[in-house]
Amino acid sequence: MPPITAPFPTARLRRTRGSAQLRALVRETALTVDDLIWPLFVRDGDGIEEEIPSMPGVYRRSVDRIVEAAREAADLGIPAVCLFPYTDPALKTEDCAEAWNPRNLSNRATRAIKAAVPDLAIMTDVALDPYNIHGHDGFVEDGVIVNDRTVEALVKMAVAQAEAGADIIGPSDMMDGRIGAIRAALEEGGFTGVTILSYAAKYASAFYGPFRDAVGASGALKGDKKSYQMDPANSDEALRLVARDLGEGADMVMVKPGMLYLDICRRVKSSFGVPTFAYQVSGEYSMIAGAAAQGWIDGDKAMLESLIAFKRAGCDGVLTYFAPAVARALAGR
Ligand code: PBG
Repeated sequence: MPPITAPFPTARLRRTRGSAQLRALVRETALTVDDLIWPLFVRDGDGIEEEIPSMPGVYRRSVDRIVEAAREAADLGIPAVCLFPYTDPALKTEDCAEAWNPRNLSNRATRAIKAAVPDLAIMTDVALDPYNIHGHDGFVEDGVIVNDRTVEALVKMAVAQAEAGADIIGPSDMMDGRIGAIRAALEEGGFTGVTILSYAAKYASAFYGPFRDAVGASGALKGDKKSYQMDPANSDEALRLVARDLGEGADMVMVKPGMLYLDICRRVKSSFGVPTFAYQVSGEYSMIAGAAAQGWIDGDKAMLESLIAFKRAGCDGVLTYFAPAVARALAGR
């Protein structure tokens, strides 16, 4: 008996793609301004806004200009910004003491933004690399990145950030035990409402290159970060890290980089059902922005497509250098 075939395709899936209205009705995910965290680079000085050569359209700003950018973010409805300092090389030391200086660039910027734009959430970065003559996220002893002494420093750094007014502490260092230690210190210090967004699954990636230029760490970095950041070949290990960090008191978790690690985002969201973020990192930004600048791709379309992919993968939000451009595009501005 030959198979009975219908005279028409049994499922015409093109029907619900046939008009903008039908497409809107069946759309499964949405990208909104609520999903965005905008990373900002802070530098010393006054009235300075300098473009980062390897990140077209991204700037290092002095604190006064950071406040303006923060105001722009709030006006656009972006819920949060994330601060990264470009530290004067003269302030980089073996003991990284500038990291927990209450008056360091990051903490000054936090205070200035809080005073001028109180309704914007501020995320700060916990890792020693902007302050370390070795360019590493932890202390270096005899060529080894040491864990426990680094965690003690990270705790001091996080508490100084909370004192300055940070709403979200973002440990990006990948040391073991830092989430629990930071959580305990925050509780002890009375910062019970300060959240921790753990960079739980952070991979040793080539896509951080432009960021290291932006914060001035490229020249300083000796060797690589493979003894603390994850092997791109691993996936189960990401789940162990997320479980560990949640157990130590993280409120939210992050996967980083983003676009190449959407499988990890999906596994994390499906396994834990906790607030899950991804970082569309500098190299991912520059691939899109660079190609768009050459006229090789449509920059706005590529940007929006790259970001809806995070929502489809289960992310609640994305750290992206495109944040203000996305907010404007979504608002039709
Ligand atoms: C360092 C840190 C890095 C990024 C955020 N925090 C770079 C690194 O680990 O070397 C990368 C962000 C980006 O590439 O946009 N603690």
